[in-house]
Parts: sequence; structure tokens; C-alpha cells
Amino acid sequence: MPSTLLLAVDAIALAFVAILSFWLVRREQSRLPLPPGPPTPKLIGWLIGNVLDLPKKRQWLAFTGMRKQYGRIVHFRAFNEHTIVLNGLKEANELMHVRGGLYSGRRQKVMMNELMGQNWGVTPLQYGPDWRIERKLLHERFHRNAISQYAPIQERYTQDLMTRIKQEPGGFEAHIKRWAASIVVFIGYGFDLNEDKDDWYVKTADLNNHYFSLGVQPFMWLVDSVPFLKYLPDWTPGIQFHKIAKESRAAAHNIVDIPYERTRQMMDDRNAVPSFASHLMQTQLNPASVDFDRMEWHIKGTTAALYRAGQETTTNTLICAIFAAALCPEAQRKAQAELDNHLIPGRTPCLSDRTELPFVHAFALEVMRWFPTVPLGIPHMLLSDQDDVYEGYRIPKGALIVANAWAILHDEQIYKDPYAFRPERFLDDMDHAPELDPREAGVFGFGRRICPGQYLADASVWLGVANLLSAFEISGAIDTDGKAIDMRSALCGASQLVTYVSIYFIPLEGLVHIIRVSLADGRVRSNARSDNGNDAHGASCPQVLYRHRSYKTHSTVDGLKL
Ligand code: HEM
Repeated sequence: MPSTLLLAVDAIALAFVAILSFWLVRREQSRLPLPPGPPTPKLIGWLIGNVLDLPKKRQWLAFTGMRKQYGRIVHFRAFNEHTIVLNGLKEANELMHVRGGLYSGRRQKVMMNELMGQNWGVTPLQYGPDWRIERKLLHERFHRNAISQYAPIQERYTQDLMTRIKQEPGGFEAHIKRWAASIVVFIGYGFDLNEDKDDWYVKTADLNNHYFSLGVQPFMWLVDSVPFLKYLPDWTPGIQFHKIAKESRAAAHNIVDIPYERTRQMMDDRNAVPSFASHLMQTQLNPASVDFDRMEWHIKGTTAALYRAGQETTTNTLICAIFAAALCPEAQRKAQAELDNHLIPGRTPCLSDRTELPFVHAFALEVMRWFPTVPLGIPHMLLSDQDDVYEGYRIPKGALIVANAWAILHDEQIYKDPYAFRPERFLDDMDHAPELDPREAGVFGFGRRICPGQYLADASVWLGVANLLSAFEISGAIDTDGKAIDMRSALCGASQLVTYVSIYFIPLEGLVHIIRVSLADGRVRSNARSDNGNDAHGASCPQVLYRHRSYKTHSTVDGLKL
């Protein structure tokens, strides 16, 4: 036989073998079991899956509880949508990091992406060219070594925060939110939020965060599972989603377009402060380019994403630090002793002090571990045209992949006594090696979609913690009758009820102002004492403005232990 014919026969045989093996592997894969999970109900289970049993609130706790029963990989189905919950670090890393090329998708949801107009700015974008452009823009300005340029901005607004809390401690939550927003808005657009008297920027990000979290939540909208519902007219009785989607679209326009246009106007007027947006407009936009509109859309979205993603997360983390300090006076005192030793009187901590303050560093890490503010991360999606196989289980293509950071950060195999707040676990001392840094265990997500603002956020949180602890003694709490609350029982109770707690901020210098706020009945008791403990009301104590303020603890507190 001529050699060319032989070659052709070989090629056909090879192709045949390849196709056969591919077919066999696929057939074998489709026979593999799905990961274990709650059973579906009889009769209608084949259609609706686990819809009726899906936890609607505090899902991270419910999923963590399932680890004992079903293991570290749990499967749910809602109609034809599969969700895989990863309750273990190894599993989250192996799928989201090692197989990052497959597991970095985001589910394109009817409600969020089509109806709510929230499909801008990195987070909801599908893993692909648009997402890559925006990640690159962010990476260039927010990678580990780039963020030191923002230290003066972070330090300035942190000083502002301390002043505001001293002047009006009862408003601490609002001050912290303004602090977090000020940092990202100044970096993003070059505006000083001290001039934003109506809190328009804070409210706009809040509103968009609200709609974003409504849109992104798994199992929240029936229209995501049954897309044809979107064609129902908005007057259909019982239909809510059209109204919410309309409000969300208006909010999205506000955050994406309005601040951007303001920066552009300031650039035209030659009074813009250098910012992320102005830098990108100057370096990336070419009016002659056919891609001008697309690129401008990327710049608008990426800048607004900084602000949407950076405000609430950083705020909540610092509020958790305040709770941790109030709940764990011993840890607070240790951090304060370290600060006192290191700082000359009158000097406030700045970012360059971080390496010299290992306990304060450990305190900030422990806050992030103990009380992760994005406990389920943001779900990824298996973006592939075929199912995947992991540990003998079939992972269906298109499945939503949820890394349960809460479960991982409270995993006894990683953290000793995980529900206790113990900054010491991160110290490198003679007795033990430090436990795993929570930033590597899901606080900022996993894999290719890991939070691009993580270094900035981490620096802001540390700075906020160090300054709060050096400026105030933080304590709690009294009940409605004025008796001290055992906060452990308030937070650890089996009761699912949300607890109101009081937080006191006691400036560490001069007169001691105690503010008692946020009682369950909304009553505010306040007093001011001089350093010797005498009641100084109406005497030498400067007038302190007390404001009604109730603070509702986050509902994730169940199970935490001190
Ligand atoms: C303590 C504060 C913060 C926490 C705890 C946090 C946490 C997270 C988490 C868990 C994710 C999901 C990652 C994943 O999909 O696996 C994420 C994504 C993201 N974060 Fe943060 N974040 C914080 C602050 C910030 C800040 C300050 C910025 C902006 C400067 C930012 C920008 C983003 C963006 C744009 C994404 C989407 C990334 C993508 O989809 O590719 N975050 N963050």
C-alpha cells in the first residue's frame, strides 16, 4: 500500500478512536452522581427540585450546618438550575483557583442583567473579553504595590472619621459609611465627600448595593428560573419584579453616569483632581476610535464599581471591628497597649506603622475571619459547554458555584476554636505557628474573580481599626433597664432574634464621654464623666450632642463565641 494511503487509514483510525473515547468519557460522566444534598420532595420534586427547602435567610449558616450531613460539597437544584456549595477551603481552591479557567463565570441572570440594569462594572460581567478589560484597568491602579499612592487619602479621611465619632458618637455607623465612601469616591472621581452635604453619594451607592444584592442572590427571583415570566406586563396582579427592576434601572443610571459626567465637566473646566476616572479618560479614550463608546462604558462601569463594591463592604467590616472590640475587652486592651507603646503621645497610627504593630494587624485579620462581611462571596458559574467531574461527582455545566467563606473561616480543621475571637492565632510566636491568613481563606473570594480592591480595602480596614483603638475605649452594653447585657448570650443565643446592643465610645484622652445608644426601645441614655469618674454633666464637660441611634446587629452573629 502506498505510504500516503497508509497515513490516511491511520488518521481515520485515530479519529475514530478519539471520537469513541470522547463519547465513552461523556457517557461515563453523565452517569456519575451529583454531589450529595437535601432530597427533593416527592411528586413535584422532579420539576421544582429543592426550591421549597432552600434557605432564604442566613444561607451561610444553613449551608455550614449541612457540612456535617452532606460533606464539603453540597448540591441543590431549583427547577433546572444547579447550585454547588463548597464548604471547604480545599474544594474552593481546587475548583475556583486551580480550575479557574472554567469556574470564573457569573450567571447571567434575567432579573439582574436584563431587567434591573445592574449589568455594569466588573462584578456581574461574564468571564470574557469585557470582564478582562475592566479587571486590567483595576489591576493597574489597585495591585499590591500600587495602593501606597492612596495612603494620604485613606489617612486623611480616617482622621475625619475619628473627629466625627468624637463629636457625635451615636452616629458612628453613618460616619463609618461616609468614611468608606469618601475614600473610594475621592480615589475614583476626585470629589471630596465633605462637600456632599446631602449624602447623595453614600445613598446612591447604598441603593445600588441594595439592588445588586437583590439581583445576585441565588433563588431569589422566580423569573430567573422561569425566564418567560419577564414578558408578563407590569400590571399583572402579584408581580413585583417589574417595579423593582424599574427602580433599580434609575439607581444604576445615577451611579454610573452622574459622577462620571461631573468629573468630565471638571476636566473640561480644568479643575479636576487626578483620579482613577480622569486618568482613564486621558489614557484610554480616543475620540477618533470606533471603540470610543465601548471604552467609555468600561470606564464608567469600572469607576462606579469601585464605589459600589468598596463602600458597604469596608463599612461593615469596620463596624464588625467595633463590635469585636466591645465584645472582647481583653483583645482590645492588648491592641491598645501595643499602640501606646509604639506611638508617641498625640501621634495617630498611619499605614507605615502596620508592620510595627503585629497585634493590631492580628486584630484586624481576626475581625475579617470572625465576621466575614461577604460570607458567601459572590457566586461563580461553571462556564463550559460540558459537565465537569470533581472527586467522583458530576458538576453540571452552568452550575452556580458558591464558596461558603463563613464555613471555611469557621472550620475547626483550619482554625482552633473558630467561633472565639482570638487575634493571637495570627501571631508568629514561639508556641505556635500562625493560623492561616483569612485573606487566603475566602474573605475576598477565590480564584480569578478575587476582589480587585482587596489591598485597598485591607489597608483601609487596618487603618480604621488602629485609629479607633488608639482614640477610644469601646465598650458595651446595657439592656432596656440599664443593666449590663451579657453580650455573649445576646450574640450566641439560640434565639434567631436580632439583638440591639449599645456601643460606648470613650475617647482615651481628657474628659471621658460615655454615650449609650441603641437600646431596643430606642431610648438614649447619655452622660459624661470626668477622668476621675464623677458625673460631669453640666459641669466642666463640654456639651456633647447625643442623637437617637439604634444599631441593629447583623444577623450573622448566631453561634459566635467569645
Ligand atoms: C473589606 C472590604 C471588602 C471585602 C470583604 C470584599 C470582598 C469581595 C468578595 C468576597 C468578592 C467576590 C470575589 C469572587 O467572586 O470570588 C469581591 C469582588 C469584588 N470587589 Fe471586593 N471586597 C471589599 C472591598 C472592595 C473595594 C474597596 C473595592 C474597590 C476598590 C472592591 C471591588 C470589588 C470588585 C470590582 C469585585 C468584583 C470582581 C469580579 O467580579 O471580577 N471590593 N469583593
